[in-house]
Amino acid sequence: MSRQQAIDYLKSVHTRMAEQVDFSPENPVINTTLGTLVRTLCDWQTFDDLATIDLDPEVAPLLTDLPRLCACAECEMEKWWCRKILSDMQTETCPANRALAAFWYMDNYRELYTAERALMTDAQHNKAAFLGSGALPLTAILMAEADPTASIRCVDMDAIACDLSRQLIEALDLSDRIEVICASAQSYIPRADETVICASLLSGAGIYDHLLDHGVRTLLVRDAEGLFRLLYKPAVLPTNGYVERAKTQPCHTRINTSRLFERAA
Ligand SMILES: C[S@@+](CC[C@H](N)C(=O)[O-])C[C@H]1O[C@@H](n2cnc3c(N)ncnc32)[C@H](O)[C@@H]1O
Repeated sequence: MSRQQAIDYLKSVHTRMAEQVDFSPENPVINTTLGTLVRTLCDWQTFDDLATIDLDPEVAPLLTDLPRLCACAECEMEKWWCRKILSDMQTETCPANRALAAFWYMDNYRELYTAERALMTDAQHNKAAFLGSGALPLTAILMAEADPTASIRCVDMDAIACDLSRQLIEALDLSDRIEVICASAQSYIPRADETVICASLLSGAGIYDHLLDHGVRTLLVRDAEGLFRLLYKPAVLPTNGYVERAKTQPCHTRINTSRLFERAA
């Protein structure tokens, strides 16, 4: 594919998505368009001339609006899949692991979790809060499954997402390890020595200052780099009070990069 064909493809994806009203997986246009976009951007990372197409002036306007449309689809997709997994688990023939494994992006989440786990010490992994956990709190579930003594809080300001994720956590029998709290990140009171993980779709001002004021020492921030900025807006990073200590390497099969920050001395 030539550079111009790639740019035209991205513009057509944006036009098609912007025309949609239903962003849930009930809409086949959303499923096909988004699924193909994710696969295409992963492939382009391996071609020198396409891997930097996000820097092309013609693509610049898409860097703002495509992630906004993708975020709408992601929130709807998580709710739709949470309902589907709950319903599948109620049928005797579909145990929890098979119901979860059916989720289209389960392998991507496992890969993301594995990369993030490598940044954390056991203690940092053992007590964590995930801000912007959504209806499908897969990272919290993977953390709880990996460590039976883990204590994880999922925080989200969307009451429907919280209700669904609470039902899923109960159905997976993980309520002793994962608590769901319906609150904004800006009002959440962290526990002592809690690692705070910030979702890539976490939004709003003042979150890091709030966490700094409440003594949070370790932050893990999900970011997006390069071509993947067409799917997720890059994270707003802490500028005050925290120092970046480690990050996962960009990779063509993992959409997010994650940055570990520690409180400055
Ligand atoms: C759909 S989830 C996506 C999480 C993503 N899959 C990830 O792993 O990073 C994003 C959630 O963030 C929540 N959210 C965004 N800003 C927030 C804030 N300031 N406080 C609490 N929740 C927030 C939204 O309600 C939404 O449910």
